[in-house]
Amino acid sequence: MNNRSAQHPRRPVMKEHANHEQAPAPCHASLNNEVVTIYFDDDQTGQWPLVWLRDHCPCDTCRHVHSHERLFSLLDADIGTPSLTLVPDMYQLTINWPDGHRSALDTGWLYQRRPGQHDFLPALPAARPWQLPFSPRRITHETLMAERDRGQGAGERQWLQALMRDGLVLLDQGPTTPDEVIRFATHIGPLRDTNFGARFDVVSKPTPNNAAYTALELELHIDLPNWHQPPDIQLLYCLENDAQGGGSTFADGYAVAEDLRIHAPEAFRRLADTPIDFRFQDSEQDITFRAPVIGVDHQDKVTEIRFNNWIRDALDLPLEEITLWYEAYLAFWQRLKNPLFRHELALAPGQMIAFDNRRVLHGRSAFNPETGRRHLQGCYLDRDMIHSRFRVLSRACEHTR
Ligand code: OGA
Ligand code: ZN
Ligand code: ZN
Repeated sequence: MNNRSAQHPRRPVMKEHANHEQAPAPCHASLNNEVVTIYFDDDQTGQWPLVWLRDHCPCDTCRHVHSHERLFSLLDADIGTPSLTLVPDMYQLTINWPDGHRSALDTGWLYQRRPGQHDFLPALPAARPWQLPFSPRRITHETLMAERDRGQGAGERQWLQALMRDGLVLLDQGPTTPDEVIRFATHIGPLRDTNFGARFDVVSKPTPNNAAYTALELELHIDLPNWHQPPDIQLLYCLENDAQGGGSTFADGYAVAEDLRIHAPEAFRRLADTPIDFRFQDSEQDITFRAPVIGVDHQDKVTEIRFNNWIRDALDLPLEEITLWYEAYLAFWQRLKNPLFRHELALAPGQMIAFDNRRVLHGRSAFNPETGRRHLQGCYLDRDMIHSRFRVLSRACEHTR
């Protein structure tokens, strides 16, 4: 039993990990036209149809004791006209159903689930265009890890927050132990595997199968736009960076796309409306996907960028669209070159940059392998794991919204 339930030993157990004890006390409950109304002492009311209440019974028959998942099927229910008992001191609404089943629900839990409020999950930080001049939030590895080891997560929560808000965050002063990036990432969630492996070493290789494994300049790009779902989050951990060159560049793709929308609306529309092909091929793989360079949702909000000049495949468009598409593409590319939108930094050994690979473009300048070693290790994570970790760490917060 955790501390919170010890404070309220008699409150119904809802099989819910997130905090719901802070809600106002219930004053009165009534049933009319198959809808239960509860009046709370902050003058709010909540209303739930009986079918909803029956569906959400938390008892051990309706929800599995260990997994907490729903066992109950509404097909088997006899909802009819039940009787209600409200015990305000215990935050308890008891419902006795005609078939003899009894449901005890916590009114704090119900309060968070008043229909239409969607108030029961911590709000995730919204993506915010970079405020210029931009520089990423820095969090030291030591603070974050020490808190993690003590079972606390304030530093990690800030790291996650900055990643979701800015799409880019820097971890500073970490060890230069190989695979630290893997240890860091797997604590958050399983790695997202790709044809380059679940973890990859960015070094200049004699026979590279990707531009990243050369010493060449890498234009700003998104990794793997040739996949149906490109990796969401990329972590790049610097172990060595002694070679001349090899500086890193980042740009907020959302901000650049919005600038294009304002100053060259036709170019924006063309890039958002025209799917093109992206493709990686080697002796074993042929991975290809057709999608627009600027992805938008049903409200025309920018939701993703697919820009990667070296794995863009042959352009297959109707003849009359080809020149216009190139003009639009160059207008976007030109904007990416604008120093206003770029953030440059030289990754130092022990630093790890994490970024939203669907939003923030990354690149590097050429380096000279003759002058020293350059070694980054990287991996990818799914966005679901970033969100999940943020929710778990938010459980400890007094007020999560
Ligand atoms: C990559 C990449 C950047 C760098 O591996 O995808 O873009 O700094 N690397 O080497
Ligand atoms: Zn039940
Ligand atoms: Zn890359």
